[in-house]
Amino acid sequence: MSKKLVAYFSASGVTKKVAEMLAAAGSCDLHEIAPKVAYTRDDLNWMDKKSRSTIEMSDKTIRPELADTDLDMSQYDEIILGFPIWWYVAPTIINTFLEKYDLAGKKIILFATSGGSGFGNTVKELQPSAPKAEFVEGKLLNRANKQDIENFVKTW
Ligand SMILES: Cc1cc2nc3c(=O)[nH]c(=O)nc-3n(C[C@H](O)[C@H](O)[C@H](O)COP(=O)(O)O)c2cc1C
Repeated sequence: MSKKLVAYFSASGVTKKVAEMLAAAGSCDLHEIAPKVAYTRDDLNWMDKKSRSTIEMSDKTIRPELADTDLDMSQYDEIILGFPIWWYVAPTIINTFLEKYDLAGKKIILFATSGGSGFGNTVKELQPSAPKAEFVEGKLLNRANKQDIENFVKTW
């Protein structure tokens, strides 16, 4: 039996809500990609050139640490992976997550929330972190309602 996991990072709760709706609608497991050190309000200030998020997103080799890495990934063959768009792509903690696990042969379907931007180069920047996984640019789920969620679940 193929099992699906909804895994998400959310700094201010928007993506978390969407992830919870997806996991419920799709009857799948839910995993929060939590940073070892939580992001403060100041960390998230994109107007500040010296804020943690600005620094992390301007050097794409930075890998923010995860709070836990003991997920049993072997039981899943599809991962529905969600995050907020930061600087037009996925936050680098998503690269950390992808590099921690063996994702060879797995399908990774993306979803995101944003202030309006689309996925941009997201797939291109994530693929090297899981070179043997198949990435699918899924859906931007800004202000998603029940119908949007159900429609997206049907595409998995
Ligand atoms: C550091 C940072 C960078 C962001 N960059 C973008 C961006 O490039 N384009 C955009 O539309 N929204 C951007 N946003 C807004 C978030 O994508 C949006 O508020 C998202 O829904 C937040 O999700 P969360 O509550 O799950 O963290 C940015 C937010 C932060 C904190």
